[in-house]
Amino acid sequence: MTQSGTDLKGKCMALRRSLLRWFGREARDLPWRRTRDPYYIWLSEIMLQQTRVEAVIPYYERFVKSFPTVQDLAGASEDAVLKAWEGLGYYSRARNLHKAAKVIIREHGGVLPTTAEQWRQLPGIGAYTAGAIASIAGGLAEPAVDGNVLRVLSRIFGIRESIDEPATKERIWSIAATLLPRRQAGAFNQALMDLGARICIPGRPRCMECPVSRWCEAYRLGIQDTLPVRRAKKAIPHYDIVVAAIRRGGRYLIGRRPVGGLLGGLWEFPGGKIEPGETHEQALVREVEEETGLAVRVGEGIALVEHAYSHFAVTLHVYACEAAAGRAAARFHEALKWVRRGELEKYAFPAANRRFLGKLR
Ligand code: ADE
Repeated sequence: MTQSGTDLKGKCMALRRSLLRWFGREARDLPWRRTRDPYYIWLSEIMLQQTRVEAVIPYYERFVKSFPTVQDLAGASEDAVLKAWEGLGYYSRARNLHKAAKVIIREHGGVLPTTAEQWRQLPGIGAYTAGAIASIAGGLAEPAVDGNVLRVLSRIFGIRESIDEPATKERIWSIAATLLPRRQAGAFNQALMDLGARICIPGRPRCMECPVSRWCEAYRLGIQDTLPVRRAKKAIPHYDIVVAAIRRGGRYLIGRRPVGGLLGGLWEFPGGKIEPGETHEQALVREVEEETGLAVRVGEGIALVEHAYSHFAVTLHVYACEAAAGRAAARFHEALKWVRRGELEKYAFPAANRRFLGKLR
């Protein structure tokens, strides 16, 4: 082995030991760490994609009460699953989880996968999630590299190429595989995750408290605040949207968004983007007619909601509306429904819609 190869091996062993020892002392006590049941680990990993641990905990606890087994999940309606997910965002995660549960029941006799390769065949499971589940639930020596681990390893190994480049990601995956101990792979992967969440945080990491700063190249060079290197982010677009709270006989008209698209399967009030030059009233009349065939009279404004999704931001201008007599016909939504005020809470709405429900009478 070359000199640098020997160095790398030594660094890996020392680092592994320090990190595992730290994790043994400092591991966060999280509900999905009290089990090795792959169904629960899988669920937690799906919820943790793009979402912080603190936000996930209450959802996880409610979800396992509602759907304690993969059979319960597979047997539930998509509406019930989306309702349990409401507010957590990235709803395709919930739809894929539900689909995958059905595949497990229908095609695998209710038996959950074991290897990372098998997990990857299921909807909603990429390389990271497959590695995380296989290592945490099954104890298999599989690396699991998400955005946090990319940050941690780019610092420890002083990687200055952008982590948005596929070649850099590949390099870091291969480092993670080299670092991984044969035994305790699950603990090791979670130690890297915890280090990223608590010590090796974005921006200014807490190197003084870091159990592996001795082996950190970025720390040695004093460049930890500048890593990881990212490609410049594109500015996200902003849309002004009018929303019609159409009331008829104590009921409001809501529609279920088409399943293939954005926020698919969630319920919302009719409305849409304001076109250039349109007044709010004109936009409301046009959107409601396009989506439901109904002619509306626009009443008072009842809410203004600002909300940022991952790839765009919206301002919702919500108006009380009255519809002329006639049947509402779904032209964009999968279904339209007149729902009593008191029943609205039972439906799963996108976060921005949820935020004005309290303003409705
Ligand atoms: N983020 C993703 N998976 C995690 C896990 N198992 N523990 C803590 N944070 C995580």
